[in-house]
Amino acid sequence: MRKANSKITASFNENITGVRVVKALRREEKNLKEFNALTGDMYRAAFRAAWLSALFLPVVQLISAFALGIVAWYGGYQAGLGGLSIGGIQAFISYITFMLWPIQEIARVYAEMQHAIASAERIFSLTDSLPDITDRPGAFDPGSIAGDIIFEHVTFFYEKNKPVLEDFCMHIKQGETIALVGPTGGGKTTIVNLLCRFYEPKEGTIRIAGYDYSELSLHAIQSRIGMVIQTPHLFSGTVLDNFRYGRLDATDEEIKEAARLSGAHEFIKSLENGYLEEVGEGGNNLSVGQKQLISLARAVLTQPEIFIMDEATSSVDTLTEALIQRGMQVLLENRTSFIIAHRLSTIKKADRIILIDNGKITEMGTHAQLLRERGHYYRLYTRQFRQQLEREYDPFVAQSTAGS
Ligand SMILES: Nc1ncnc2c1ncn2[C@@H]1O[C@H](COP(=O)(O)OP(=O)(O)OP(=O)(O)O)[C@@H](O)[C@H]1O
Ligand SMILES: [Mg+2]
Repeated sequence: MRKANSKITASFNENITGVRVVKALRREEKNLKEFNALTGDMYRAAFRAAWLSALFLPVVQLISAFALGIVAWYGGYQAGLGGLSIGGIQAFISYITFMLWPIQEIARVYAEMQHAIASAERIFSLTDSLPDITDRPGAFDPGSIAGDIIFEHVTFFYEKNKPVLEDFCMHIKQGETIALVGPTGGGKTTIVNLLCRFYEPKEGTIRIAGYDYSELSLHAIQSRIGMVIQTPHLFSGTVLDNFRYGRLDATDEEIKEAARLSGAHEFIKSLENGYLEEVGEGGNNLSVGQKQLISLARAVLTQPEIFIMDEATSSVDTLTEALIQRGMQVLLENRTSFIIAHRLSTIKKADRIILIDNGKITEMGTHAQLLRERGHYYRLYTRQFRQQLEREYDPFVAQSTAGS
């Protein structure tokens, strides 16, 4: 019953959070049918549980009644023979009742306990599960992780036999701005996830500032990396609460400065309540681009030693993006940073651009070098650039032909 119940909870949670997709793809009826099947399972399980517990107590009571009956019958027989007085039988029957009462009580408690045990089993199976990645014995905090980052023959997979990275090597110097580009599913997010130690390499080592990073404590690494993830997530509360999420002691001035650097200040000012505007559950009262700006500013505020932006400004308009780039330049100076982007205009200024395809580095160099090489990056860039040019020139061409 508990298992069926948790499936129902998971299902309606998924359907409510994904309600727009359900509506857009007109899945209402099909989902309702699936949900009905789940509630049917729950109904049957609950019915069986109720039936069993309804049966249990009467059975115990029936046995007690039989016991009393036997005492009365055998006692009566003995009284007839003169071996026992009526008073004796009476006393015996009341002793039996005294004894039966706790037994019935135990039966009732036992039935309730079964419910509790089933619930407890499910709770403990969750709380007892151990995180895959924990601090090794003797893990320490070196005080700073500023330094070179080296991936040494790293092999990694999420599922066995499906390697995402194989024998991957990369050397990033301190202070470099690295851009990771490449096709969808190539392994860019996986690389930065490994760097943040959300996952660990299955083989090989990652060195940060000379230390094998598995010798360091998780806190030492993660508290010094600022990561803006691909799918921005805000927590319900005000804009200000969300800024303070990463650094509780930030002053209002520092928050405004971070917001200015990341281009969020302008739109926040235009909100009715400014920094005190409620963002709604998961930040759903804001647009995706606005959420991205806030999560970018939130990361800026923590002043990390390593900065990672995974498609951090993909939903922001190009003008705002240019503003952010200007603001971020100060921040990225002397700070090792990784920028992942599909929009190549964002990464032109990176010290090194690394093309990742199928878990491997296929091209590496500055924007100018890669263009000169005329490889995959060149083709990607010229295609995006041409599209942009076409968009820019179209109205101009239309106007000039109309004029002539
Ligand atoms: N949690 C996961 N479990 C299993 N496989 C995963 C998981 N996350 C990613 N993968 C797989 O790993 C591969 C690399 O994914 P990754 O997210 O690193 O790609 P990406 O380069 O960031 O792509 P995108 O540009 O779309 O963000 C993909 O083939 C993907 O299917
Ligand atoms: Mg990704």
